[in-house]
Amino acid sequence: MIVHFTVNGSRAEADAPPETPLLWVLREHLKLPGTRFGCGAGLCGACMVHIDGDRAFSCQTQLSGIEGRAVTTIEGLSKDSTHPVQKAWLKEQVPQCGYCQSGQIMSAAALLKHSPHPTRDEIVDYMSAHICRCGTYPRILRAIERASREG
Ligand code: FES
Ligand code: FES
Repeated sequence: MIVHFTVNGSRAEADAPPETPLLWVLREHLKLPGTRFGCGAGLCGACMVHIDGDRAFSCQTQLSGIEGRAVTTIEGLSKDSTHPVQKAWLKEQVPQCGYCQSGQIMSAAALLKHSPHPTRDEIVDYMSAHICRCGTYPRILRAIERASREG
């Protein structure tokens, strides 16, 4: 099955079985390794991307479901790492091993797009889709609050 869509603003296509996870298409076909494979079961958030501006688990999204849609990965969140979430992430020195962080950042960006000034409870609830084995949760929380404040 050949599917046409856009990734980070550029046209893309993939020829693979319809049930192929978008995560594999991004990493293996399009060579965009920033989106990570964690659990493959919608439980860890490492694979989070945006589809038409909303967050989505790319491990749970089939190729057949993205015809004509706009996918954004961590590589395309901003041209030069100046998205407010990325700037806040640097200021708060969030990452430890880094493995979970692209997914965390994509969710944080989606949250602030839909709710520019979330409460702490809203942040914790939204970000509960993610697991960080290094326990960077307090810094993630501070970074999202900073990005909300500083834009
Ligand atoms: S790899 Fe998709 S949620 Fe874990
Ligand atoms: S920074 Fe290591 S898993 Fe999150």
